[in-house]
Amino acid sequence: MTKISISPSTILNPVPVVMVSCAGKDPEKEGFGPNIITVAWAGTVNSEPPMVSISIRKSRHSHDLICETSEFVINLVSQKLVKACDYCGVRSGAKEDKFVSMNLHPVPMPGVSYAPAISEAPVSIACKVKDVIELGSHDMFLAEVTGVTVEESLMDEKGKICLEKTGLVAYSHGEYYLLGEVLGFFGYSVASKDALRRRMPKKTSGKKKPSGAPKGYKSSSRPVRDSKKPNGKNKGKH
Ligand SMILES: Cc1cc2nc3c(=O)[nH]c(=O)nc-3n(C[C@H](O)[C@H](O)[C@H](O)COP(=O)(O)O)c2cc1C
Repeated sequence: MTKISISPSTILNPVPVVMVSCAGKDPEKEGFGPNIITVAWAGTVNSEPPMVSISIRKSRHSHDLICETSEFVINLVSQKLVKACDYCGVRSGAKEDKFVSMNLHPVPMPGVSYAPAISEAPVSIACKVKDVIELGSHDMFLAEVTGVTVEESLMDEKGKICLEKTGLVAYSHGEYYLLGEVLGFFGYSVASKDALRRRMPKKTSGKKKPSGAPKGYKSSSRPVRDSKKPNGKNKGKH
């Protein structure tokens, strides 16, 4: 395989894209009400205790809110939320209430005192900030997970969370993708024949429609980028 060397950049793809909700200590004060910021620089960083990180520029309105309360909520993005997710990433809460603009609803979140969850999100993760690391362009908020809520319909009778039912969205190189086709499961490369027979997806001749895919979905469907939109111009500059 011939490879070309390109300049170092944030090329690690795909990444999760999440809607982070937050609020000030006094939500009645102007500019301190519930807000949502779209974040692509987010990740799981520890298992015990469960910890995550989000990286946010100092210039974001949400940066001030999170610094004030040391808490935030990470909301996973389903296909239904993807437009709102994009909107919350191109408009600032300093000037408008993005919950109202996108017809979303803030709800109290177990595990935190000030930051609300987004009612419409399939999964919400309450986080308490343990450390803030100034990295350069972004400040990284290292946080412990203190609560999780999951939409009831995503739990099966055994208590397993079936995220595949909600049509989760990932982000890669400036574009949003719907997750769909299962290729394997943890450890399938060394699993027994019996486990493979039970758990591997059945091979089909044509390409499978991802769960939650829109009507008229074609496996070759690819979003078209409008170069006038912020994402076209600032691709990767989050
Ligand atoms: C897909 C996408 C991913 C983004 N990821 C980040 C990020 O990781 N960190 C960040 O500071 N801003 C990120 N942004 C930009 C903020 O979401 C955007 O500036 C937003 O308007 C800030 O809102 P606020 O001022 O209400 O906090 C992203 C935007 C989009 C569309």
